[in-house]
Amino acid sequence: MVNFVLDKVGDADWDELVEAQFRSFSGEPYHDALFGFNTRENQIETKKRHIHELTESTSYLWLKIVDQDAGKIAGAAYWKIKPNYIPLNREELNITWLDSQEDREAANRLLMTVQDRKLANVKEAHIQLELLFVTPEYQRHGIGTRLLKWGCDLADHMALPIWIESSREGYRMYCSQGVEDVEYHVIEAGRFKTAYTLMRRSPNLQAALLN
Ligand SMILES: CC(C)(COP(=O)(O)OP(=O)(O)OC[C@H]1O[C@@H](n2cnc3c(N)ncnc32)[C@H](O)[C@@H]1OP(=O)(O)O)[C@@H](O)C(=O)NCCC(=O)NCCS
Repeated sequence: MVNFVLDKVGDADWDELVEAQFRSFSGEPYHDALFGFNTRENQIETKKRHIHELTESTSYLWLKIVDQDAGKIAGAAYWKIKPNYIPLNREELNITWLDSQEDREAANRLLMTVQDRKLANVKEAHIQLELLFVTPEYQRHGIGTRLLKWGCDLADHMALPIWIESSREGYRMYCSQGVEDVEYHVIEAGRFKTAYTLMRRSPNLQAALLN
């Protein structure tokens, strides 16, 4: 039996984690728009962005699940914990990870549309599941669900809802943990065509009492 262990992401993990992230999201246009195509340069840029973002808040947290025997990261989740309601701001992005101006403009349209839908809906203290992925060789072993459950337990204890922008692939897993549809969107921006569901999970305070 494979020995999977949950742990915090540490300084030495970023190269492997980002490589795993790009492989997990391969062919997902939303990821291409947000992080660029899978090149060494974009992996380095993504690593810098992840590390930099952690300096913006003490309540951002990366978790990984490691295959202890192989010493490999099997999956990871990035949580943004926002225990008090502060209205979200529209963040302008300086897209440097796509080569052509056309792609940069298209990616910007896609990302701004996603952001606007979030701004219109998320008006409460909450936990945001920013990213969740499991590498192809480890999918369908319950790892995604374990990473998600960690956040659900935390959200129950903190009496906070969870908000998620779900890919098609993640949708069934989220439904199975009580995450519900808010809005479904199809976005076509240049070469980036994607569909996602904005989802929300209400906290279960009774579950927190029992745990
Ligand atoms: C979405 C994603 C995170 C799911 O990760 P995962 O580890 O495969 O998820 P789980 O194994 O917990 O659950 C997935 C399915 O495997 C099934 N499963 C879980 N353990 C299993 C096992 N031991 N044997 C067989 N199937 C199993 C689950 O029941 C679930 O089935 P369903 O889709 O029919 O409901 C992963 O597919 C992924 O990284 N995709 C690309 C990136 C992405 O879309 N991320 C989500 C962004 S919002």
